[in-house]
Amino acid sequence: MTSLIIDTDPGVDDAFAIALACASPEVDLLAVTTVFGNAALDTTTRNALRLLALCGRDDVPVARGADRPLVHPQVHEAELVHGNDGLSGRAHTLPDSGRSPVESDAVGLMAALLRDAPEPVTIVPIGPLTNIAALLAAYPSLRSRIARLVIMGGALSGGNTTAVAEFNLWSDPEAARRVLVEERLPTLLVPTDLTFRCRVDRAWLDRLSAAGPLGATLVGLTADYVAHYTTFFGEECTVLHDAIAVAEAIRPGLLRTTTYPVEVDCTFGPSRGALVADRRTPEIIATFGSTLARAVDIATDTDVDEVRDFLLTRLAG
Ligand code: BDR
Ligand code: CA
Repeated sequence: MTSLIIDTDPGVDDAFAIALACASPEVDLLAVTTVFGNAALDTTTRNALRLLALCGRDDVPVARGADRPLVHPQVHEAELVHGNDGLSGRAHTLPDSGRSPVESDAVGLMAALLRDAPEPVTIVPIGPLTNIAALLAAYPSLRSRIARLVIMGGALSGGNTTAVAEFNLWSDPEAARRVLVEERLPTLLVPTDLTFRCRVDRAWLDRLSAAGPLGATLVGLTADYVAHYTTFFGEECTVLHDAIAVAEAIRPGLLRTTTYPVEVDCTFGPSRGALVADRRTPEIIATFGSTLARAVDIATDTDVDEVRDFLLTRLAG
């Protein structure tokens, strides 16, 4: 049994990710912590509570986290992708849990859970990395209590928010750099290069929708999101980025990795928030060295159909 904490900014694909964790008996979902990102913190927190209610998991504590980046305010509206309430304008179709977030904030709750858990815990950050950077800064002694970080973020080639930056890293580059470059935790980064390849089409969404009430409600949240990705790819489809990272946390090894030295661009030029990965061959790096000091496992390949089937089977119940 893998103990799991999801740090999230729901978000349409976050919704699928949370539902996937709830539908997976191999994981013990200890908490959902929220962060600004796809919408403002109040909205992402309300969405997280409602999504857990949808999944019948009102027992999972929700804690509010950061409402802005660590250092530099970053103004970005994700409304054009996720709709004005983070869920394609359909958050009202989810049950109102009637619950509130716990009193502790995200960092406090994660710290308490890490301290008390009998085994190290897997954390899956699927939003800006602000809460995780704050956790590691405030509680360095708890590093050893983290089994691994499975992070959705970054792009090896071409960004989805700027020409070169992916949304989660771009939203708080200083936090991302702290977590990815300055820390030395076991880390698996799931970039858009791979999540794009795992995109699902209308037939997949229709099958999920027909499978039952949970699937129908989730698919009902996707209208704006599907419209965005249909424009992006020129074919009707959507990308469940965050659910791919959670799938790897549930089934370690589902994604194949390559280890690359990395850096996160924290300058204020056009490449702010970009993941810089040294993708020269190991032989060339061994010969010439790399200016990038931290090597991170990056998900670069998978059996795409297996991932799609896994998500569909689990979410269909
Ligand atoms: C990431 O950004 C958000 O739009 C998604 O929820 C995902 O976490 C993809 O770049
Ligand atoms: Ca997200």
